[in-house]
Order: sequence, then structure tokens, then C-alpha cells
Amino acid sequence: MGASTVALFCGLVFALLVLHGVDGSVTGVSTRVVGSGYKLVSIQDLKGGDGVVAYLEVIKETPETLGKDIKRLKLVARYQSGERLQVHVTDAESERYEVPQMLLPREGVESVESTASSRKLGPVEKKGVLASSHPLEFRYIAEPFGFAVVRKSNEEVLFNTSSPSDAGNGKPGFNNMVFKDQYLEISSQLPYKSALYGLGESTRPDGLRLAHGRQYTLWATDIGSWNIDIDLYGTYPFVMDVRDGGLAHGVALMNSNGMDVDYGDDSITFKVIGGVFDFYFFAGPKPLEVVDQYTQLVGRPASMPYWVLGFHQSRYGYKSVEELETVMRRYKEVKIPVESMWSDIDHMDHYKDFTLDPVNYPVEKLRPFVDNLHANNQKFIMILDPGIKIDSNYSTYVRGDKLDIYMRNATKHRYVAQVWPGATNIPDFLHPKSQEFWSTEVAEFYKVIPFDGLWLDMNEPANFCGGPTCYYPPEIEVCPQIDECCMICDNTNLDRWDDPPYHINSLGVHRPIYAHTMAMNCEHYNGIRAYDTHNVYGFSEGLATYKALKEVTGKRPFVLARSMFLGSGSYAAHWTGDNGATWGDLQYSIVSLINSGMFGVPMVGADICGFNFLTNEELCIRWTQVGAFYPFSRDHSDIHVGPQEFYLWETVTETAKFVYTWRYRLLPFFYTLMYGARMTGAPLARPLFFAVPEDPRTWGIGDQFLLGTDILVSPVLQAGQVAVNPYFPAGVWYNLFDPKEVIHATANNSFHSLEAPLDKINVHVRAGAILPMQETAWSTAEARKTPFSLLVALPPESDSCMSASAICDQVDIATGELFVDDDDQLQMEIKDGTATYVKYQAFRGHGRYILTANVTEGAYALKKGFVLQTVSVLGAQASPSSVLVNGVAGAAKVNFNNRDSSLTITNLNLPIGKSFEVSWDCTTKVALTI
Ligand code: GLC
Repeated sequence: MGASTVALFCGLVFALLVLHGVDGSVTGVSTRVVGSGYKLVSIQDLKGGDGVVAYLEVIKETPETLGKDIKRLKLVARYQSGERLQVHVTDAESERYEVPQMLLPREGVESVESTASSRKLGPVEKKGVLASSHPLEFRYIAEPFGFAVVRKSNEEVLFNTSSPSDAGNGKPGFNNMVFKDQYLEISSQLPYKSALYGLGESTRPDGLRLAHGRQYTLWATDIGSWNIDIDLYGTYPFVMDVRDGGLAHGVALMNSNGMDVDYGDDSITFKVIGGVFDFYFFAGPKPLEVVDQYTQLVGRPASMPYWVLGFHQSRYGYKSVEELETVMRRYKEVKIPVESMWSDIDHMDHYKDFTLDPVNYPVEKLRPFVDNLHANNQKFIMILDPGIKIDSNYSTYVRGDKLDIYMRNATKHRYVAQVWPGATNIPDFLHPKSQEFWSTEVAEFYKVIPFDGLWLDMNEPANFCGGPTCYYPPEIEVCPQIDECCMICDNTNLDRWDDPPYHINSLGVHRPIYAHTMAMNCEHYNGIRAYDTHNVYGFSEGLATYKALKEVTGKRPFVLARSMFLGSGSYAAHWTGDNGATWGDLQYSIVSLINSGMFGVPMVGADICGFNFLTNEELCIRWTQVGAFYPFSRDHSDIHVGPQEFYLWETVTETAKFVYTWRYRLLPFFYTLMYGARMTGAPLARPLFFAVPEDPRTWGIGDQFLLGTDILVSPVLQAGQVAVNPYFPAGVWYNLFDPKEVIHATANNSFHSLEAPLDKINVHVRAGAILPMQETAWSTAEARKTPFSLLVALPPESDSCMSASAICDQVDIATGELFVDDDDQLQMEIKDGTATYVKYQAFRGHGRYILTANVTEGAYALKKGFVLQTVSVLGAQASPSSVLVNGVAGAAKVNFNNRDSSLTITNLNLPIGKSFEVSWDCTTKVALTI
């Protein structure tokens, strides 16, 4: 134990005495199950020297209210590549449930081999340190057993499960690990000041940072995201922790069982109802590095087709194909580009997956509609719910029945749930034949309607009833209310799966965990229980759908899913579910977006203008302004509220035309960011603390976001507000839409008051950025054929550097990148003939500015004939007297606008696939005004 740890212990004693609950007391945020913990009985080095395997024995058992203690535990701690450290603790004698490898492949601990000789544990040698060249260090103490993870560079203790009694002060233990079959508990000390993020999915009025005193419950739940501070659709046991000086690290707990995570003033406690402790610590120290290291483990974000970046229109309640046609036509009339039409459950025949309503959505009408969309470069995305209607005349059901892939309950009967179509069976996506089933259904339906992507809803999985003993009374054929339970359920005799000894705080009321989903004793084909897999059900459906789409279309799949888990982002994009048309929901959407990016799901958006409740014009204007900059941009609303297409209000129409014109111009920038996400996990929408982690004022900012590093979005999020006071990282920032408005931010002058009338959103571009752009068009496909341009945002120069004789430094003053590819290819990757990557750099020297393009794998861009036509320079000082293109004074046309100090060099005609150099002098101070 390092000296800093001991010091930390001393400060904690008072708080610990207050926090400790009564033995076995299990409710409330700050109570813990106090046990005497475990002691280390043997420890050996792993072969290869990258860790240890240790055996622990319970010292004295805790009360049995929550079940018996597991007597002997096996712990493996090992350093892994990607700057991560794994600490895995399980039952030493019998195998326990772990997140299935078929969903999330990773190095298992079963095969670890230890050296023959044990580390000796004498009376003196009670503490140990694992030496390695890793940035993190694993330390342990023998009795009561505890471990700490320390950042070696500054000796900071990042995670510490040890007891203050280890400090030798004789006080009771801070916490001692509890490990029972259905209850695992572990705590770590934390400095009060550290900034914590993550632990989704929930809607967070507290803002971006996790709040002291809150309990975060992780249980996949079908409940509208307009509900605040409760467990929603997805579960992400991942925390990012930023400490003094801006050093960040991450902690993931690879466990899909239900859990409460209590964030106290000086501690975090994980209370988990099954599985194992499988912690991964990511060293950072930059926030982006944490996401990089975390997504190396759970999987890099999925490659996205280009069209996903367009604007999408959706609604629950489009009554017919004619209505879809009308909506698309009206968008066209007001000249707002719509990339796709989404089809909710309205198209289904009695809400059955893979069917069409023969009256309102007959194939004879829907197919030409979809063909017409395709002829116009537009897309069609269809919804799927996992529940399959039990109906012997329904071919999908029958095929699933034959393959026997539906979940069974404890008595081995098919489990019956009630969802939109009524009585349904739930596919078991861990069943070896489920892929065949799902792929066949997707393929058969694709022959009928060639959809472009699939939208997975209700995959928590949702059930309007819930519990082990529900059945339909024989007299009921159709439920009077489709979304209300009409089965008869007697849930009085519950087993330990439906009624576990510890009740997680689901929905803030400790409701039974079977509620609104399938019974927890339902089994997958291999006997694994829904109790364990509940939080990865959505993942399993997402993966099966991704694979099915890949097989059927042969193209890069697009899946949008509601219930997600660590690593789901490798297959699916996400929307934040059923939000409300309120100002609060608009505000919370930014935090939800940022969190999703940190969880490895960067392609994310919230329903623009709100799903639930009636929206209004002002809210919809402001939401459209922000939504155009969401990574995933979709207007979607509920059947119970009025329509909210942008064209319904003149003001919203005008707003949408403006912001989407810019979004479409910026498509190459967005797509290049998505490529970056695929490569390193870097989210598209990022919080300000990613850019300036060392400034604690950024730690809580959740009402602005950065796109990559270069665009800062500072929206209005409140009714009647016409000004904002956003934070700017030190540097120069140009208003993207009006570059004469320039912000000079310094570390002491970070907040700048700006006007924000109803028709204006503040979006700024960082001086130092080079943004690749194209022209706006009716569809992303058409936009991709337009000439490219570069927006070069230069930091304003001092006069001395402008002189021809000055020897100016050669460092980059602006950089940017462009990735273009054939998005029918499965992955976004730089590959000969199918993708091109270009790095742009601007620097200055001897009175000239020089812009260079360095191309990797130019063949694809050359084959496509992509051409750079224009370079727009912000922060130019004067009109150049000469512009050289690859060293030659040529045909380029030059315009200098001294009103906003912008320089436009056009007619360049430079192939994107070829490296080039464009330079211009900056000696002439005579301004030419266009
Ligand atoms: C759920 C979805 C919502 C969808 C509705 C009908 O509430 O979250 O997006 O419109 O179901 O399918």
C-alpha cells in the first residue's frame, strides 16, 4: 500500500463510521452489507509474469439474509495490452455465469497458468505489489483482503477496496468484499473531488457528472426516457473518472446481472445480484485515451453507411402508404432534404414482425413507394420487436417453433409474454439455431420490401405483463388495450430468480425484476437464466440482426437499437428512446448523447422535437437547431400526440433548411469523425472536458458539445432564452455561419456571452481546424457527388510573422483529415481501391501560407473523380498577390473579403486522391472586397 493510500485512509475514518449500515441491511443508497471479508491464502505469479492468481477464503461469514458466502474465491489480476488491468474474482470451486463470449469475445481467465511456486505469505509479507512496466499497478493486502489500483506516474490511488483498518488504527473496516451466489458487493474509496461519468443508461437532470449520494441502477427497462434518474433501456457498467490535473482513467465491470451502484461522498459501491467481479481498469490518462482503451476491449463502434448521417423522418402513427408519400412530398415542397422514411409498427399486420397490413400497407403500394425512394437516393428503415406472435398460421412463428428457438420457463414450457401483437414467444438469441431463424426471416421479408436498415425496439425485452405465471384467459382473443396487460398473472409464489434476496432499486421503487419483462427463471437453450442475461438480451438481438443484414444485403449493415450493453456499439447505433417534448428533455438529450459516446456508441441521437407529449413551435425550433448536429438526426413522435414534421411550422421549416444545409455541407467532416470513432472509439459528440480536462470548470458542462475537436455547439435549451454564455477552450473560435464574429478565449476568459435569437444557434469552428466539406443536396448520395471544399480556420497572425523576411516556424497552424470510402464495404478502413484518407496541414514560412494534402490510398478517390474545388480561409489578413497550386501560378480564382477576413481560393480542380500543395503569400495588406 503506498503512502498516499494510507493518508487517504486516515481522512476517511469519520465518514466511514457514518456510512456503515447495520449488518445485512440492504436498502438505501449508503448502506452496505458489512462483512469481515476474505483473506488471502495463497498467491502465485502467472506464467509470463503479467499477473497473479490468488485464492481467498472468507474470514467470518456475513448473515445469510442475502444467501451464504462463497467460501473460497479465485482472483486473477493481470496486465493486458491496451494499457488495461483486469481483476477477476469468482468462485474457486464452481463455474459462475459470465457475459457470454459469443457476444463479447475476450481473453477468458480459465486458461491462465501460474508458476509452480507460491509467493510466500509470512507474517511480515502481508502486502504485495505487482511490478511491471504497465502504467497501472496492482497492489493488495492479505487480510482482510483488499486491492488497489495505482497510477504509477504520480502514485495516485485510483481504486481501493481496502479497509482503513489496514492502516493499523484498529477501526472497523471500510468495506470488505461480499461474494454470495446472488449478491456481490465491493466498494472503492474515491476522493470527493474526482469527477465521475457513466453508469448508464438514465436521463440525468443532475447534469453530466455523476452526483454524490445517488444510486444508479443498471437494469434494462422499457420505460420512457422522459422519466428521470431511473434505469432505462440500456446498461453500461462503465465509469470514467477525472482527477485533479485532468488525469482520467476508466473502470468497466464486465457483468450483465442487475446492479445498484451507490456513489457516496468518498466511495463507490457496486451491489450486484449475480455473476462475477470482472473489473477492467483503463489507464488513460486523457479522456479520449480511456475511450480508446475501453473500446479496444468491448469492441470498436460499428462502421456506418454514409446515408445514416442524413436527416431521418419517422413517426408512430403514419396510417398508410399514402401518408408516407404525403410526408415525403411535403418535405420536398418546402425544400428540406429527407434521407429516409422510417416505418414503425403501423405497417405490420396486427403488429406481427415481418408482415404487412394488407389494407393500409399492402405490398402493391409499399413496394413501389420504397422503389421510388430508392430511385431518389432515399432509404426505408423498418422496425422489429423481438416478441413473435404465437399463431400457427403465422409462418415466422411456425419456423421459430420448428427450430425450437423460443425461451422456456422453469417448467420447460414456452414462456408467453404480451407485447403489441398479444401473446408472443421470445426468441432465444443465444440458441445455436436462432441465427438461422432470424436470418431467414430477415431474408424472406427483404424479398418483399428491400429495406435499408432495421430498427430494434422493445428489446429489453419488454413485456406488458411480466412474471412467471401469466396466462391468457381462454375467453380473451384480443386484448382491449394493446399496450396494457390482459393476461392473468399470479405472482405470489416466486422463486429466488424472480424474487432474489437483494432487490435492486429498479424504477426507484425496488420493483420486482420480472416486472415488464420475461420471468427471470426463463432459460436459454443451454440452461443460462434470463436472470443473468437480461441486460444483454438487446445485445444478442442486435448482433443477430447485424449478421442477418450482412448476409442478406451483402453491404455494411445499419441497425438502430434501444437496449444496449458494453460493446453493443460494435453492431448498432442508438436513439435515446421515448423522450418527452419538454425543455428539460431537450437539455438532458445532450448529456445522454455524450454518455452514449463514452460508452462506445457514438452514432446516437434523441427524437427531435420530442416523442411523448405535444411539442410546440419554439421548442421544435430550438430542438431542430441542436438535432441537426446530433450524430444521428431523426424526428420521431408518438401516435398519441400530433404530428411534428418540420414543414408544419414556417419558422421550423426555415430553421431546418438553414441548419440542415450546413449539416449536409459538413457530411465529409461528420463521416471522417465516424471513421475516427471506428478506429479509436473517439465519440463524435464530446463533452468539453475531453478538450480541456485540466480545467475543472469543464467537468460539469453538459449543455454544450464538441463535434470532434473542431466544432463547438452551444445551443439554447430553455424557453424564451435569447442569449447564451458558453465556455470556449482557450484559442480563437469563428462563428461557423458568420466568421466575422470571432471569439478570443483564454484560460482566464473562457465564458463568452453571445446573442441567440430564436433563429440562431451558436456553432463555432476552432482556429487550427481544417474541415472537409461538400455541397448540400437532396440526399447524401447526391451531396457525395458535389465538389469538395476545405474550410481552413487560421489563428490570426501577428504582423511580424507576415513579413516576407521573417523566418516563421514551420509547425502546423491548422490540420484536418478526410476519409472517403465505398460504404458498401463492410468496414470503414483505409484499403486500396475502396477507401482514401487524406491528411491536410497548413503552415507558414517566409511570408507564405502553405496548405498540403498527403494522401494515403488515393486510388478510390481518383476512381470516383472526387475533386477539391475550393479552399476557404478564415482569419486571413489580406488578399494574396500570388496563389501557387503545386508551385505554379494557375487558374485559381481568389477573393478576399475584408468584412470577415475570409479568403476564398476556388477553381482549384485538384483530385482528392492526389497529394498537393497550395500556397499564398500574405505580404500585401491591400484588401480586395468582393
Ligand atoms: C416504443 C418505441 C417508440 C416506438 C413505439 C411504437 O415506445 O420506443 O420509438 O415508436 O414503441 O413502436
